[in-house]
Amino acid sequence: SQRTLVLLKPDAVRRGLIGEIVGRIESKADWRITAMELRTLDRSTLEQHYAEHQGRPFYEPLVEFMASGPSVALVVEGERVIEGVRTLAGPTDPIQAAPGTIRGDYGTIVRENLIHASDSTESAEREMKIFFPGLV
Ligand code: GTP
Ligand code: MG
Repeated sequence: SQRTLVLLKPDAVRRGLIGEIVGRIESKADWRITAMELRTLDRSTLEQHYAEHQGRPFYEPLVEFMASGPSVALVVEGERVIEGVRTLAGPTDPIQAAPGTIRGDYGTIVRENLIHASDSTESAEREMKIFFPGLV
């Protein structure tokens, strides 16, 4: 099975959607939450996490938004969970995301799109180390 790193972004926490979003993940057959923490992310953590986007026009406002309040970081483990959580989340732009997806049901703004999920096994390994350095 696989592991993935999920973030419930500050908009999701601010709007009281932790239970709703975690519930959707938890409901999937055989998926398990193996780590979970509520924390306001600092700049250096976010710079590592979003290194691939450094220099893009949306980078600075993205980091600022991501540091604007607490997020929830989770590790989810299970069958095809990397692709699976991204399918639950829907496309980056919430207006393009179908109803029934997390972004499609709750989002309108590209930056404030509620959730992050690792996009590959390599990203998952890299990101889990950033948010849960103690994890083996
Ligand atoms: P993550 O799971 O958060 O990584 O989203 P993603 O993989 O769907 O998108 P990507 O990695 O390309 O971008 C990371 C985040 O930057 C997105 O989730 C958005 O919050 C933000 N973002 C990406 N592209 C844009 C853009 O064109 N404009 C703005 N304002 N924000 C963007
Ligand atoms: Mg991404």
